[in-house]
Amino acid sequence: MTQVQSGILLEQCRFAIYLEANIQGEFETIRHGCRKFCLALKEMQQKFPQENLGAVIAFGYDVWTDLCGGQSAPELKSFTPLGKGLAPSTQRDMLIHIQSLRHDVNFALAQAALAAFGSAIHVEEETHGFRNIEQRDLSGFVDGTENPQGDKRREVAIIGDDQPDAGGSYVMVQRWEHNLRQWARFSVGQQEQVMGRTKLTDEELPPSGRPATSHVSRVDLKEEGKGLKILRQSLPYGNVSGKHGLYFIAYCARLHNIEQQLLSMFGERDGQRDQMLRFTRPVSGSYFFAPSLTRLLAL
Ligand code: HEM
Ligand code: MG
Repeated sequence: MTQVQSGILLEQCRFAIYLEANIQGEFETIRHGCRKFCLALKEMQQKFPQENLGAVIAFGYDVWTDLCGGQSAPELKSFTPLGKGLAPSTQRDMLIHIQSLRHDVNFALAQAALAAFGSAIHVEEETHGFRNIEQRDLSGFVDGTENPQGDKRREVAIIGDDQPDAGGSYVMVQRWEHNLRQWARFSVGQQEQVMGRTKLTDEELPPSGRPATSHVSRVDLKEEGKGLKILRQSLPYGNVSGKHGLYFIAYCARLHNIEQQLLSMFGERDGQRDQMLRFTRPVSGSYFFAPSLTRLLAL
């Protein structure tokens, strides 16, 4: 069986580092950097076996097309703006996603990543995520409840073994900035209508009890009776007195599922937008493809 990159399916991580980079060096340096980074990761995993350390390297369309040396990831494309610019594109060449139970371990691995790629990459954006109290987003709502669990995670996020890109996964990232002062002006009842779930007890409101513009209604989509599932690994980030919000990241065996949810949130399916946009907005957006570990090492 092809090996999957270790950061995709992890459960219950407490910290993450997200590095979005553009490539400015030779592809040979990138290939070599990938192998060097995977070696550093393996050493760190052996040194800290209790800390659930995992990482993912993923590539944007332009780079992957050149790197893979053939046909691969047919659904991959560059992120384009949605909702008349409400969702901007900042498409980058490469994503390095590190997560574990410890920020210090993540930090050391991120340093190893920079050392491995050297001047071949330039980090455009670095975000440090943390698991908030009771797994709540900074809006106060529990985030991740309806994520696939157990074996379902692989089924949803990883391309099947009978397919050409076996062990790979499509990725979408968007950094969202919340306006919590604005959010605090909403009553709890109003907030629950925006999200489509109860705040304290984290229960889904029935479709009849939530607007079609609630977040859950926007993203809980079905096609031919089947749910369009994705695996989310998002975490809150930021400074108390400055910018803060959610670093959204989703993995899926099909880019289609993620894209349909985005189109629905930004009014590109039926003209209706996600009410969350009343207190938060995305300030970045990229699509990537994360090849299997087996393939990453063989580039
Ligand atoms: C569910 C928050 C962005 C897809 C949820 C839930 C919360 C939440 C609180 C309910 C609990 C749960 O099942 O996890 C947020 C916040 C966002 C954000 C604060 C950004 C600021 C997105 C984006 C997508 C997305 C961009 C997809 C492109 C989903 C999905 C569910 C979900 C698929 C599960 C729905 C279900 O099956 O019931 N989100 N979300 N979310 N969200 Fe988001
Ligand atoms: Mg649901």
